[in-house]
Amino acid sequence: MVQEFKKVGVVGLGTMGAGIVEVFARAGFSVTGVEIDDGALDRGRGHLEKSLGRALSKQKITEEEHGAILGRLTFTTSREELADADFVVEAVPERIDIKRDVFTDLDRICPPGTILATNTSSLSVTEIAALTNRPDKVVGLHFFNPAPVMKLAEIVGTVLTTPGTIEVASEVAKRIGKTPVVVTDRAGFVANALLVPYINDAVKAYEYKYASREEIDASVTKAAGFPMGPLTLADLVGLDVCLAVMDVLWEEFREPRYVAAPLLRRMVAAGLLGRKSGRGFYDYSGADNPPEE
Ligand code: 3HC
Repeated sequence: MVQEFKKVGVVGLGTMGAGIVEVFARAGFSVTGVEIDDGALDRGRGHLEKSLGRALSKQKITEEEHGAILGRLTFTTSREELADADFVVEAVPERIDIKRDVFTDLDRICPPGTILATNTSSLSVTEIAALTNRPDKVVGLHFFNPAPVMKLAEIVGTVLTTPGTIEVASEVAKRIGKTPVVVTDRAGFVANALLVPYINDAVKAYEYKYASREEIDASVTKAAGFPMGPLTLADLVGLDVCLAVMDVLWEEFREPRYVAAPLLRRMVAAGLLGRKSGRGFYDYSGADNPPEE
């Protein structure tokens, strides 16, 4: 069935969405990427083309494959173009009002059999499913950053998702080279419930001046062989995303270990979101900013 998909839609072309488009297109699917306006569309397309260009220059793909991948891509600002999509992944900002707008639209536009997947990391998939008239066909398909590289895809089922939907989503994940893990709709699912409190603990260690940011990061990379330390990872994931995950974990479980580090909250309030804003625990803007105190 998945082999017969003629069109996959991806709504939202931020860092995650652009990476998700790339993953589907490289696996041979025709993909339509949708953004809200031309500026956002150009940014998403630029991100994707840069990533594909890197793969080409590293000889991970041939000129021919590069051309074929680009040929499978369509970009639009009109969600109506998903009227014939077989499978849609939503990767818009983590706000329920934005998700509501997208999912009510997709529910109206897409054929009744189309599965609507959300890449949400901090909202309830059940709540999103309930925005539609097809909650049985709504599923979480949670990617990890950078989406083209990280192998896990969490398949998040709700009390309303049918086994058939989970099965298709798992098959899709395998077809795009990911390892699907089926999880239930609980705050943080599984991976983020483990990873983000660990990042939060590192922020507290930094805030309490246990060590410098570099030393905290080295304590993990050099001790446990992780590819990057927790503060570098926070900058990659986005401090706003980390905070949102901590807040839903706290909201759902009310355990002290899920209280967000005050510094994390302050940095988000200050717009220091990590790589995407140019500055987080480290500086990516080229300016000589001091580390956060
Ligand atoms: N897009 C596409 N490819 C990328 C990339 C990106 N943004 N960043 C790195 N890559 C590719 C490189 O092209 C390279 O590919 P190659 O091996 O085929 O040549 C490969 O990844 C390794 O990259 P580099 O050599 O440049 O750098 P590193 O070896 O340091 O790897 C990393 C970078 C893959 C990001 C690695 O440091 C890593 O795995 N870090 C941990 C990431 C992680 O834990 N992610 C999960 C975060 S939690 C999350 O996302 C949850 C969500 O809900 C927020």
